[in-house]
Amino acid sequence: MSDQLKGRNVIITGAGSVTGIGAGLAYGLAERGANIAVCDINEEGTEKVAGDIADRFGVRTIAITVDVTNRAQMQKMVKETVSAFGQLDVMINNAGIIEHATFLDMTEQSWHRLMDINAMGAMIGIQEAAKQMIAQGKGGKIINMSSIASRQSYPAFAHYCASKWAVAALSQAAARQFAEHKINVNCMGPGIVKTAMLDGLDREFVSKGLTKLPGEAIHDLSVGIPLGRYSLPSDLVGTAAFLASSDSDYMTGQNILCDGGMVML
Ligand SMILES: NC(=O)c1ccc[n+]([C@@H]2O[C@H](COP(=O)([O-])OP(=O)(O)OC[C@H]3O[C@@H](n4cnc5c(N)ncnc54)[C@H](O)[C@@H]3O)[C@@H](O)[C@H]2O)c1
Repeated sequence: MSDQLKGRNVIITGAGSVTGIGAGLAYGLAERGANIAVCDINEEGTEKVAGDIADRFGVRTIAITVDVTNRAQMQKMVKETVSAFGQLDVMINNAGIIEHATFLDMTEQSWHRLMDINAMGAMIGIQEAAKQMIAQGKGGKIINMSSIASRQSYPAFAHYCASKWAVAALSQAAARQFAEHKINVNCMGPGIVKTAMLDGLDREFVSKGLTKLPGEAIHDLSVGIPLGRYSLPSDLVGTAAFLASSDSDYMTGQNILCDGGMVML
């Protein structure tokens, strides 16, 4: 395994779900040598993932409980990471939620919940990371988790799609804003990834009578993926490692889909 990220200090939000994308990236980037601040609203999850990574890869880790919608907590997260590791090199704004609702059933309440966590959380994460990276004066990498839903919108998840288009829009604006500081801001957009989020959606479909059997929704969502299967968090590590490393120094404001070919534009 390459040690292209050796000694790079990385924050990953939403990394406390053991089967989730954030945790998958935490393991994968640690395997490539990065020190990881494992951050999530789920305290127990952050401690488990951080402890496991330290044991397996011998890198430095820190577990931080944070709600990405809370500015003060996000500032504290950056501060604690810098005091533990010395500086912040890479920020991955990954925390997110999804909800199913037909277009006419979307409510203001669920709109605000999704927009707050997925979009405003990314906004605060970009801002707080950029402030720290500008103060350090050595550039940096900001990676925001978008989705295929940031390029195509689906009627059963319109508010989720809006929140992910917002992530892509914020990333482009931030890329232009911080280019002079050599801070690259890019998005990566998964397609169908088997995580707790997808399992929850699968259960929601059964409980609403939209599907009959557990696993059916994930199967239906995966039908027709050109590369022939849904993905796992480990499928996303290579793209994240590329965006976190100097290999992507001449790339900013991009939204790379890692979706098995689901969306081709
Ligand atoms: N699973 C997929 O198919 C898929 C596809 C495209 C994009 N994504 C995106 O990838 C990201 C991770 O999704 P996942 O599938 O790993 O989901 P997940 O539910 O497994 O993990 C999400 C994590 O975010 C955390 N979180 C939720 N609200 C938070 C908050 N306010 N503050 C801090 N942490 C919070 C949760 O505790 C959880 O650990 C999300 O942004 C999601 O929209 C997922």
